[in-house]
Amino acid sequence: MAVAIASDLTIALSKGRIFKDTLPLLAQAGIEPLDDPETSRKLILDTSHPRVKFVLIRATDVPTYVQWGAADLGVAGKDVLMEHGGEGLYEPLDLKIARCRMMVAGHPDADISSRRLRIATKYVNAARAFFAARGQQVEVIKLYGSMELAPLVGLSELIVDLVESGNTLKANGLVPLEHMHHISSRLVVNKASWKMKHATVQALVHALREAVDAST
Ligand code: PRP
Repeated sequence: MAVAIASDLTIALSKGRIFKDTLPLLAQAGIEPLDDPETSRKLILDTSHPRVKFVLIRATDVPTYVQWGAADLGVAGKDVLMEHGGEGLYEPLDLKIARCRMMVAGHPDADISSRRLRIATKYVNAARAFFAARGQQVEVIKLYGSMELAPLVGLSELIVDLVESGNTLKANGLVPLEHMHHISSRLVVNKASWKMKHATVQALVHALREAVDAST
């Protein structure tokens, strides 16, 4: 059912899986992009609704654009939101897409309880919080990708990474050691937009919630 949109809305999305999986949900709310981001190089996409546009940014930048009000809403993974901290954002809806797990992984003989551990990860805050809660002091090394390499070349004993099928760990002789968090993509809303554009934002959240419920 098309949503009654009475305010201009900018929605921040990242290319790839989040975009692909969010589109059917937005389509059910009557919002569809007029360009295909896979073929167009545009960063701002008009949609089937004249008052709604999409901005296409890196997944890790989505909370920042929404926090500062450059976008009213956005879709971001819980992994990215945990690192961002959630300041300036509401997180009203789990879209239940792009699901995976955040895990500690390493060599099969790695000792997760060892007193001297180095952890390589993109998810520095989540890793620190997890080991602090276990009462373990660890050294966290920030990486930007290909974490699985770190234990293979002796950069760290363990990694904290996202695991979906487990194939990347397996292909590199690593195993999951401890489950940390269930991850999925969330709808985030700028706190000022939530107040100033309340009726429109609420209508969209409601329509997306119905779309999520219908798809799960
Ligand atoms: C993610 C993640 C793992 C892999 C897990 O990486 O960081 O490396 O997918 O998937 P699997 O369990 O199905 O093998 P991604 O491809 O997103 O790239 P990245 O290294 O830049 O994070």
